[in-house]
Amino acid sequence: MKLTKLMLAGILSVSIASANDVMKKSMAMMEQGMTSIQTGFMHNNEALIREGLKLVKDGNAMFSDKKVIVNYMPEKRKHMVNVAENQAKRIILDTNVLEINLDQKSYVDAANAYSDILNACSRCHAIVREW
Ligand code: HEC
Repeated sequence: MKLTKLMLAGILSVSIASANDVMKKSMAMMEQGMTSIQTGFMHNNEALIREGLKLVKDGNAMFSDKKVIVNYMPEKRKHMVNVAENQAKRIILDTNVLEINLDQKSYVDAANAYSDILNACSRCHAIVREW
């Protein structure tokens, strides 16, 4: 367990150190957070889920303002900034739902909230990447 934590901290600090802007930093935190949450669910490790949750919350907070998001959208998708922003709002809601369900030991509902976060990631990426 300790070793896993050290490794995760190592990977995280490397990815954050190389992040030179708010988008990269935010995405790296959320990516690491989602990985930890998934590993936590797979291994029934609630502490790891909570660690990941904090990273997703903090990373999302850096990239949830419309004025920030629009800078990273391609010209012909900028009109969809509200839809993109809604995905960040959806992540705020989902992380709260996930946490409440963890507190109540409703792990299946917590895992569903994790899935919905993943959907929100994809939804915004589909817009900015013109998928
Ligand atoms: C509000 C929009 C939005 C949301 C929500 C979002 N992303 Fe991103 N993401 C972006 C943008 C913009 C980029 C940069 C453009 C690209 O990679 O095509 C990006 C890129 C990334 C990258 C590549 C970063 C890099 O350094 O190239 C990762 C990893 C990533 N996102 C992870 C996530 C994860 C995990 C989530 C969900 C927890 C998420 N993103 C949610 C907008 C978003």
